[in-house]
Amino acid sequence: MTKLSRRSFLAASTAAAFVRPRRAAAAVALASVKEAYRGVFLIGTALDFRRPDEFDAAELAIITSQFNVITPENSMKPGPIHPQEDTWNWAQPEALLDFCGKNAMKTVGHCLVWHSQTGAWFFEGASREIALQRLRSHIATLVGRFKGRVIGWDVVNEAINDGGNDTTAATENLRDTRWLQTVGPDFLTQAFRFAREADPDVALHYNDYSIESGFKHQSSLVLLKRLIADGAPITTVGIQGHWSLTGLTPERYQQIDEAIAHYKALKLKVAITELDVTLSGAGGGQLGGGGRGTPPPPPTAEQLQAQAEAYAKLFGIFVKHRDAVNRVTFWGLHDRRSWRSGQSPLAFDRDGKPKPALDAIVAAAPK
Ligand code: XIL
Repeated sequence: MTKLSRRSFLAASTAAAFVRPRRAAAAVALASVKEAYRGVFLIGTALDFRRPDEFDAAELAIITSQFNVITPENSMKPGPIHPQEDTWNWAQPEALLDFCGKNAMKTVGHCLVWHSQTGAWFFEGASREIALQRLRSHIATLVGRFKGRVIGWDVVNEAINDGGNDTTAATENLRDTRWLQTVGPDFLTQAFRFAREADPDVALHYNDYSIESGFKHQSSLVLLKRLIADGAPITTVGIQGHWSLTGLTPERYQQIDEAIAHYKALKLKVAITELDVTLSGAGGGQLGGGGRGTPPPPPTAEQLQAQAEAYAKLFGIFVKHRDAVNRVTFWGLHDRRSWRSGQSPLAFDRDGKPKPALDAIVAAAPK
């Protein structure tokens, strides 16, 4: 037995008394999602460096051990990065790119055109021509600055309406946004063209939620076919993947599987761009109840097990389509930082400890 000095004995026993769970957890080698899926697809997270000390050492260890690509959760969106025509906020995006560069991680740009988190100045007094000029200039500056430093851009985010019916399913069913009202339905094609002008090589995504099922899926196919026919330089469909345990019925898994096949048939790549699986409440792209700040009910063992099984099934589908799926990104680092923190949706809990989902995801990787 190793002899301990009185001081180190006291230090060791004090530490053991107060932080035993943490030490015990740290002693077990943490499974790594990015290692398990190396050569299959990239594994990402979403976060921002809002300040230099944003993350503590344990969080930084999760970021670098689990993920090889980062999406800025907010800092590259039109509103945050370009709040006025003559104002750009580069500090947070640059801090993120710097971190990714130093840690051999890739970066995805999110997002160029959206109805949300977008400055009103884009539309003030704007004719179609003026709005398009502003959009082109926005995209040229942003995509141009990060050319060669990001692997892809979510060019248009969430352009399709929620819900729908048999009639809308035969149409694009575009959301009634300022972009649609000011420019018309070709705002999407124009945005893709502007992005391609600014970077000839970067991947260009259409990104949306709930496009894998039902009427909205039908509309997504109508829209994507039109974009391709019009020569929009789109490379990838981003399925956001904001799912919930209640919504993940056997039928829904089947729909996800088929949707990926449908996009593949259009010769598009597929990325799962904002994955989370809430324990309670609805999924989808709208921030409903259970967002940040809501104290969560402690998950039960049954809920954690059901979540682990759901993640394993989802990753099984992504692996099946590994020829088309090139990235799976979780929307957030751990449950406390999640935009749906009240619904415990991620693979790490509020203290950054692995949940049963982590091992299940790793176990679903091809051997
Ligand atoms: C969310 C962020 O996570 C929140 O911090 C922010 O308050 C609102 O936006 N679809 C998207 C993401 O494309 O940009 C959204 O991110 C979640 C839904």
